[in-house]
Amino acid sequence: MPSSLSFAERLIRWQKQHGRHHLPWQVREAYNVWLSEIMLQQTQVATVLDYYPRFVARFPTVEELAAAPQDDVLSLWAGLGYYSRARNLHKAAQQVVHDFGGIFPQQRSELEKLCGVGRSTAAAIAAFAFHRRETILDGNVKRVLCRVFARDGNPTDKKFENELWMLAESLLPEKNSDMPAYTQGLMDLGATVCKRTKPLCNQCPMTDICAAKAQNRITELPRKKTAVEVQTLPLYWLVLRDKNGALWLEKRPQKGIWGGLYCVPCFETLDAMHNYAARFTGVSDGLEEQAPLTHRLTHRLMLITPFCAVIPQARPPENLSDGLWVAEQDLAAYGLPKPLHGWLNKTQKDLFGG
Ligand code: ADE
Repeated sequence: MPSSLSFAERLIRWQKQHGRHHLPWQVREAYNVWLSEIMLQQTQVATVLDYYPRFVARFPTVEELAAAPQDDVLSLWAGLGYYSRARNLHKAAQQVVHDFGGIFPQQRSELEKLCGVGRSTAAAIAAFAFHRRETILDGNVKRVLCRVFARDGNPTDKKFENELWMLAESLLPEKNSDMPAYTQGLMDLGATVCKRTKPLCNQCPMTDICAAKAQNRITELPRKKTAVEVQTLPLYWLVLRDKNGALWLEKRPQKGIWGGLYCVPCFETLDAMHNYAARFTGVSDGLEEQAPLTHRLTHRLMLITPFCAVIPQARPPENLSDGLWVAEQDLAAYGLPKPLHGWLNKTQKDLFGG
């Protein structure tokens, strides 16, 4: 790269030559950009490439998404994790339809009014769909900036974060039409070259202006967040089947883990599980403990022990109105938590081979 080029010029040239150009959400429709940006929060591109097309096929427009039952939205989201994103997505679609006449606003500040849309996501939508000069600042971009400009601070410190926002804004290209390539360039550089470990500095368009490189501080910057403690949370699943093999599922409360998804009854203590099981005639004694499984969330490790039983008669207790029996072949229509889906698949295979 010629040494006179600015950060933005380098990034745009590099993105056009080496960046990603064929992602299905690289379009101008704000609906598609918004949907992809929500999916890409905390989720890898490879995973989103699997979910995004199915979601768009089922909900091609914001109106169709807004009008859908929440269960349909959650069942398409099942497995992507962080389910508050799906609940917010559904609410935001209704906001667009009811508060904005079905048309996405173009201004970053208006986009931030949508549920689940923070400053960086709003900026990405404004830049990709409306060519607005707004900067994104996610974890990858922070890493790029901390290295290229040798910014040394605690990433969780508000004041330091503010400095990074100001730095990011000062770097924006002048032309609105450059905003998509520039924004995608920031994402691509952070994801594929300026990686957290083993960055590929010899392929980086910033290598000869990178202050961290010049100071030999690439491994030191950005400064690490202090490690959070991971708590172990024991959970007990009550896996009930009727004599035809149908599974008893209950819709989980909106708040908390797997909010709004369908799951087998789930308890934090063995006592609570046994008490609950006793409400189904004849279950409590015949429970079979299964090998535990683990499921890792950001700050928690769930240690889940399933207990299985077959119920002689299919009728659930009178006062369990939020549950239902679901036949094996109908399970796919329900949004199940990923570890339950995985465990059911595995136990099915163990039982019947294949
Ligand atoms: N991560 C967040 N937004 C992205 C996008 N539009 N393309 C690739 N990765 C992303």
